[in-house]
Amino acid sequence: MSQEKPWQERVQEVALAIIDGVRSALDAQNVTMEEYRTGVGYLMKTAQAGELGLLCDVFFNITVVNNQNKLQEGTRSDLEGPYYLPDSPFVDGEIKTMEEFEGEPMVIQGQVTNTEGEPLVGAVLDIWQSTPNGKYSGYHDNIPQEYYRGKVRTNADGSYSVKSTTPVPYEIPNQGPTGTLLKAMGSHTWRPAHIHLKASADGHHNVTMQAYFEGGDYNDNDCCSGKCNEGQNIIPRKYEDGARIMDIDLVLAKAA
Ligand SMILES: [Fe+2]
Repeated sequence: MSQEKPWQERVQEVALAIIDGVRSALDAQNVTMEEYRTGVGYLMKTAQAGELGLLCDVFFNITVVNNQNKLQEGTRSDLEGPYYLPDSPFVDGEIKTMEEFEGEPMVIQGQVTNTEGEPLVGAVLDIWQSTPNGKYSGYHDNIPQEYYRGKVRTNADGSYSVKSTTPVPYEIPNQGPTGTLLKAMGSHTWRPAHIHLKASADGHHNVTMQAYFEGGDYNDNDCCSGKCNEGQNIIPRKYEDGARIMDIDLVLAKAA
């Protein structure tokens, strides 16, 4: 019971602030009864379609991630997104890709350190990304989930390197109410090409980030966060031997 009160207080505080914010917007926009009923109907339809989570994540998840970024040193966190699977295999220098997609070769490499710049040995990087046609294994087109995902461990100097193929921009699910709203708003349902990385090391806070491609479409116009992660973690364009090189260093903060 002793823990119940602070939680209840927090619910009250946050719920009242949200209600206040929505009331202020309805007031400022002089929303009519017809518009209000249409909005409530839209939310009910979104719930029936199983898209309430998607709708919230598209508009609000990034704000909560950035709240976390205010408190934590090291590499900025980003959206985890809906396509993470915790059980991807450890890979030996190469993430499994499918020949039929003929993707551009890519090398993801870098170093994991703590905030003092010391290398973190044996840190785990859990990487997942789209296929060269913008799909995620385990979710789309029956692509087996061991493809386009893999874990790697850092070496004695904190370095890592893994081969894959370059991902591309993709559209979030857009056939339901969330896509309808985005289009009605004059927006779109595209995300810039990105690589997801979740880094963990003993005694340190995890970081879940996304690395973007310099010059990539939608970097400034991400349907989920506006400007992708406020322009952070955009990796400079670099090619070696025909492969796109993604130099991604990660800094993990010590856990208290
Ligand atoms: Fe993604």
